[in-house]
Formats: sequence, C-alpha cells, structure tokens
Amino acid sequence: MRYSFIILLSICILACENSDGQSDTPTPTIPTVDAGYTPEVSLKEAASFPVGMATQAAYLDFFSYTDVLDKEFNSLTAEYQMKQNIIHTGPTAYNWGPSDALVNYGRRKGMRVHGHALVWHQSVPDWLENFEGTDAEFEEIVKSYIQTVVNKYGTDVASWDVVNEAFNDQGGIRETVFLERMGTDYVAKCFQYAREANPDMLLFYNDYGTVWDQAKLTNMLAMLNDFQKRGIPVDGVGLQMHITYNFPEISRIQFAVDELVKRGLKVHFSEVDIRVNPDGDISTFTGERAKAQEDRMREIVQAYQTIPPDLQFGITFWGLRDGDSWLINFWGNPEWPLLFTDAYQHKLAHKGFVEGL
Ligand code: G3I
Repeated sequence: MRYSFIILLSICILACENSDGQSDTPTPTIPTVDAGYTPEVSLKEAASFPVGMATQAAYLDFFSYTDVLDKEFNSLTAEYQMKQNIIHTGPTAYNWGPSDALVNYGRRKGMRVHGHALVWHQSVPDWLENFEGTDAEFEEIVKSYIQTVVNKYGTDVASWDVVNEAFNDQGGIRETVFLERMGTDYVAKCFQYAREANPDMLLFYNDYGTVWDQAKLTNMLAMLNDFQKRGIPVDGVGLQMHITYNFPEISRIQFAVDELVKRGLKVHFSEVDIRVNPDGDISTFTGERAKAQEDRMREIVQAYQTIPPDLQFGITFWGLRDGDSWLINFWGNPEWPLLFTDAYQHKLAHKGFVEGL
C-alpha cells in the first residue's frame, strides 16, 4: 500500500513538472497588478514638498475616500467646483456652496487649498460667454470676479491658477472670449487684478502639453519672459502632466522644469495622471503596465526632485482612484491612470512615487 502511494505521488509530481524539471506553476517574472504591495509610508510623510489631490465636494462625505485622502495628501485642488461656471451665476451673483465645502474641509484638516482656476475658456458661464454689454463692461465683470473670489477666501486659499490653458495646440494664443473682449494682454491683466486683491497670494499660470509640445512651451516661456520684464506678478507655473507610461521622454519634462527653474518660478506638477492604455491595446490592467507606470512615476518624481526646494510647489494628482479619472470618459478607453485602485488599494505607482524621492 505504502509503495503504491509513493509511486502515485511521484507520478503526480512528474505530471506537474515540465520538460526541464521546472514546476508547471509559472513563476511570475512581472508583478501582478497590485503586486501585494503594502506601503511603509504615506506620500505626504515621504515627500518634502506638498502632495495634492484634485477632489470634489461629494467625495468628502465618504469615509473610505477621506481616510485615504487624509493619510496620503496635504494639499487640495477643486477638480471643478472652484471654477467660474460653478461660482459665478450672474454678474454680481455667486454660488459659494461647493467651493466653501472644499475650502472648509482643507481648513479643518490643515491641508493647503490651491485655487483652480479663476479664468479658463472651458468654464465660462453661459451668461458671460454671451454677454451683450461693452468690452469695458465685460472686463470689469472679469476683474470684479477675480477680486471677489480672491478676497472671499483670503489665505484659506494659498494660491490660484489665475489663467488656465491660454495657448492653443498649435502654440498660438487661444481664441477665447477673454482674448476677444479684453485684448491680447488679457492674461497679464488677470494676474494684475489678482495681485491687486491680495499682495501675498501665489499666482500661477497653468497649462497642458508644455512638456511635449515645443511650440506651446516656447510661447509660454516667451510670455513669462515678457511678464518678468514688465513686472507682471506671476509666481509659478502649473505643468499639468497628463502624460502616458511611455510619452513624453523624461528629457522633455526635465527641459520644461529646468526652464522654469532658470526663471525662478515655482513649479507645480498640477494635474498628474499616467495613462497606461493610450493606444487601447489592453482591456485589463496588466502587470506589465503596472510596472511601467511604477517606473514612470519614479522618474517623474526624480525629475521633480531636481527643483530647488524653494521652487517646489508640489505634485498634485488629478483624481484618487483609477475609476475617478476624467480620462476614462474623455478618451473612451479602459484606463488605470492613478495611484489607487477602485478598492482604494495602493498601486505600484505609489511605490514608484516613494522610491523617486
Ligand atoms: O458632479 C456633477 C453631477 O452631479 C451632475 O449630474 C453632472 C451633470 O451636470 O455634472 C457633474 O459634474 C461634472 C464634473 O466634471 C464631475 O464629473 C461637471 O459637469 C463637469 O464639467 C466636470 O468636468 C471637469 C472639467 O475639468 C471641467 O470643469 C472634470 O471633472 C475635470 O477633471 C476637468 O479638469 C480639467 C482641468 O480643470 C484643467 N486641465 C484639464 C482637466 C481635464 O479636462
């Protein structure tokens, strides 16, 4: 009996081994998507600069969300609820509810609140887009809006994206109602209005594509040179960093960072997400792409670390869980661009961030 059992066991073992005597159970050479990664430190504990999250008022009612938010981040950006189309309901009418919820949360939790964004062509309320008054009246409404919002929050909002995305994808100045009605110097005017309202507020220009589109970067830098020559108050620049796991090359990102540092401007990686499925070639989040995202995160944090500490405004992520990302609806592909799974598990991207410090 005993021998037959041993023979049977041997047959089973042999059946499980492949020709070179290895087990048939594949040894994963690439980590599984969560890799069983358990963080030893939170992002805000590990980083010497602020680590931010773009969030929405409705999310702040859920403990599973705020538990991670509070543990990992020390800066907040309103994903959309501090924009003009939400706040500015009429020439002298304001809806402060959503923005108050976000600012009050930040104050309660001791988190910095970065204001996003005072002037953006995609968040102009309809009544202003179609305003039938004079250009001078239009500009007075914009000036009054900027100064009302900046004054309303004072130092509860440490900084503002004063103008967002003023350059088009060909690098020229974007055709917007602000350009049309306030003239080619409208960006400078908006910064001056914000500075008049608050002498201490940090004022940012924010845009996308400046880490891969040479024309857009060149034109933005030319504007910043002009502003600095004319004494237009700009303290920093938001590089949005909506990038992919393999584009652009880190050298392009480093070049943009170095150009801002040369000008003594604070640098904010302001809307970070890392697409892993830009070509729509995967339908599940593979271990290979998880590892690629980890490596990409590590290298962009290493690039950020080259900035002198006094110019490091911080790194802000544009969403917490993969499923929260705007990218999914925008591009229509399955996507896993952020730091946490939909179950709030830390992804390898979190590991990459910490290792990049
Ligand atoms: O939450 C409401 C929902 O209650 C309502 O039923 C629905 C329909 O009205 O709207 C929902 O709010 C939407 C919100 O996203 C949350 O999903 C707003 O309409 C929609 O306008 C908003 O879009 C935001 C967009 O900016 C426009 O403000 C995106 O979340 C946000 O990710 C995106 O962020 C921009 C940056 O500000 C600038 N850089 C590019 C980036 C991506 O477009």
